This record gives sequence, structure tokens and C-alpha cells, in this order.
Amino acid sequence: MEVIITKEAASASNLAARRIARLVRIKPAAVLGLATGSSPLGLYKELIRMHREEGLDFSRVHTFNLDEYIGLPPDHPASYHSFMEENFFRGVNIPHGNIHLPDGLASDVPSHCEAYEQAIRDAGGIDLQILGIGSDGHIGFNEPGSSLASRTRIKTLTPGTREDNARFFRKPEDVPYHVITMGIGTIMESHSVALLAFGEGKSVAVGGAVEGAISASNPSSVLQMHPDAKIYLDEPAASRLERIDYYQWVFQNKPAWQTDR
Ligand code: F6R
Repeated sequence: MEVIITKEAASASNLAARRIARLVRIKPAAVLGLATGSSPLGLYKELIRMHREEGLDFSRVHTFNLDEYIGLPPDHPASYHSFMEENFFRGVNIPHGNIHLPDGLASDVPSHCEAYEQAIRDAGGIDLQILGIGSDGHIGFNEPGSSLASRTRIKTLTPGTREDNARFFRKPEDVPYHVITMGIGTIMESHSVALLAFGEGKSVAVGGAVEGAISASNPSSVLQMHPDAKIYLDEPAASRLERIDYYQWVFQNKPAWQTDR
């Protein structure tokens, strides 16, 4: 696990964007795992800028999103289909057929989840998974207590996550109770992971993820077992870490050949 701490969220987002750009340049048909929410917004903005101004080409990229609300049609303003279209897809050139999100209206959820897993395998697996983190440590919508070996499936949101996400809905009671989410086992099979967390509100979850015991009580802590996980933080999100000086020391003293910070 590598912890990268910058003063402002924008710098961390730009570093994560550079890592993705480097992957896409080396492997034009890269498979990206995508997240919604506030955390990756700066990253998507920077990737769109790189596409427009630097010709970063996404025409062979495939994407798989982590999750979607059950019961929301794709064109619902708070669906993750809409979110991705608005904040990323419409700014880059990923062919429509290469984009995958769970279907919140699937009539047979278990079969849909199996098919989603199969589609990831058929694409060759996820090269790089972008993650945010919930204030309770969830990744995807794997809430505390989720099996660390779980696969794509239905989950029930905690009351806290419903409250956190109410800002995307007209009324708090409109937030669905259920989601389809990639499992923790699914996420752990990604070849690499970039988790972004910004703001003091994430500091407890981040502390558990990076320096806590590995436990289903903080699902993000499983990333300690991932061979290539980078955690991008601003200073407030990193404020409860004990080894902060060491993480900064490592970052400042990177060997020159490690260009993909
Ligand atoms: C979103 C997702 C969630 C969010 C998390 C943090 O696709 O899977 O795990 O990453 O809830 O959300 P924000 O970034 O809005 O704080």
C-alpha cells in the first residue's frame, strides 16, 4: 500500500489522473474500474482535460462501474448511469458499447450480478480500479460486515450511507435502500487500485484502512492485502494517520524510474 498525501485534493486527483493516463498510453485497451461520488470528480475533470488538450485517447478503453442503485432507471438524475455520463463519459471518447454499469432495473438481480462478473472476466479483468471510501470505510457499497471475499451482489445501505448520499437526491427519503455493488473479492482481483479520499470526514475511515487491523468492520482495510494499492489523500483526510511523516518521506524520495506516482 502506498500512501500519497498532498495539501489540496486537486493535486492528489491530478497525480491519480497521471497514473491512469500512463496506463492508457501503455495499454490503449485498458479496462478501468470506475467509482461515482464526490471523490473522483477532480480526477475525471483532469482526464477530460487530458483528452481534450493532450489527445489522451479512450477509444479502446473499457469501463466497469462499481455500483448502481436498485430501482433507479438509467436516466434518473441521481442514478450512477447519469452521474457517469455527466461527469466523465460525455467528456471523453469511450465507445458506448465499452461502458458497463450494473443495471438497477435488472429483474433477476443474482443472474445480472453473475453476468457482470463474467463480463469483467471476459474483458481480461480490471487493470485499475478507482475507489472512494465511505465515512464508515465502505468501498463500492460493501458496508461494514461485508464478506471480504464477496462478489457482485445486492447490498442494503446503512442509514449513515443513505444520509451521506442524500445530497444527490431531491429529498432524503428518495435515497434507495438497495444497491448492486461489485464485491470486495471482485475489487481485490483488480490488477491495481487507486483510492481517493478528501476531507476530515474521511480521516477515521482512512486511518482504519491504512493503519487499522484488517477487518470486515472497515472493508477498506482489506486493501492492505492488495499488491498494488495507492491511496491518494489530502491533508485533512490523512490527519489521523500515525506514519504520516514516513509516507511523505517515501513520496519525496521516490526513485527516478518510478514515474507513475
Ligand atoms: C461510489 C462508491 C462509494 C463512494 C463512497 C464515497 O461508486 O462506490 O463507495 O466512493 O461512498 O463517496 P464520496 O466520494 O461521495 O464521498
